[in-house]
Amino acid sequence: MNAPASALQFPARLGLGTWMMGESRAARSRELAAITHALQIGYRLFDTAEIYGDGGAERLLGEALRAFGGARRGELCIVSKVKPSHASRHGTIAACEASIERLGCQYLDLYLLHWRGPHGFEQTLQGFADLLQRGLIRHFGVSNFDVEELQRWREAERRLGLASAAACNQVYYCLEARGIEFELLDWQRAHGVQTMAYSPLGRGELAIHKGLARLAARRGASAAQLALAWSMRDADVVTIPKSSDPRRIEENWRARELALDVQELAQLDEMFPPPRSRRPLETV
Ligand SMILES: NC(=O)c1ccc[n+]([C@@H]2O[C@H](COP(=O)([O-])OP(=O)(O)OC[C@H]3O[C@@H](n4cnc5c(N)ncnc54)[C@H](OP(=O)(O)O)[C@@H]3O)[C@@H](O)[C@H]2O)c1
Repeated sequence: MNAPASALQFPARLGLGTWMMGESRAARSRELAAITHALQIGYRLFDTAEIYGDGGAERLLGEALRAFGGARRGELCIVSKVKPSHASRHGTIAACEASIERLGCQYLDLYLLHWRGPHGFEQTLQGFADLLQRGLIRHFGVSNFDVEELQRWREAERRLGLASAAACNQVYYCLEARGIEFELLDWQRAHGVQTMAYSPLGRGELAIHKGLARLAARRGASAAQLALAWSMRDADVVTIPKSSDPRRIEENWRARELALDVQELAQLDEMFPPPRSRRPLETV
């Protein structure tokens, strides 16, 4: 049995995603400069995973973080994920140790099961519990889980008598993928599970959406900023757009200042209708 953890808190509600980074040597210096720029302008939340670039994204992020300074580690919130096929008790521990080594970050603020895989939830939870006890992770959670999976996960937590519970579910959530609004979002609110929206730009599609661009122009904003402001319209949702371009990284960061009014939200509901029935969890 572990001591209860402090509540999961984020330094900002917008962070930087790193999928598709750390994959090619040719892009490395450009990507490193982009992450370094993000740190310079204030990004403190970073999302990565052992599978991104087969560890390459974690290594790249680690290099930028080392230059930022180990003494400032406390300012950061680093999220990584265990690959489902690694998520046995011992596999989870080994995967986390390897992620921390690549990131050079001493511990992870949040460690997620990337999606449900072949190992039983209790196995993964035992790994998470060991990592918590050793101070290698501050919080754990899941990704791509629907309500039924979260309920089963909670049952596994209870069976193990854990004092800590999944603090976060990272899910696909953007204007083009609103399925979680039907049930999952409310369930997570009721059960203290943080919602982290991945692919908030619809993998880039929303940034070039003509209707969005027209609506955004009235506010002197870009389509990307409007999509990101929408994904953060509820104070309890965190969003993690990815970009390897310093100008876009700045543009996305400024979306935090864009508060949408009731009329704009209604127009967005018309363009991208909310779900009217339960549907299978959307994933990219
Ligand atoms: N848990 C999971 O299963 C899961 C799944 C998917 C993603 N994620 C996480 O969520 C993060 C974000 O999702 P994502 O990378 O799939 O997609 P996204 O953030 O929705 O979109 C990223 C794409 O949009 C482009 N972009 C970014 N800012 C832009 C702007 N201001 N204007 C125009 N284009 C812009 C990027 O290109 P440039 O880089 O060239 O700017 C990139 O092609 C990932 O990086 C990853 O960390 C998690």
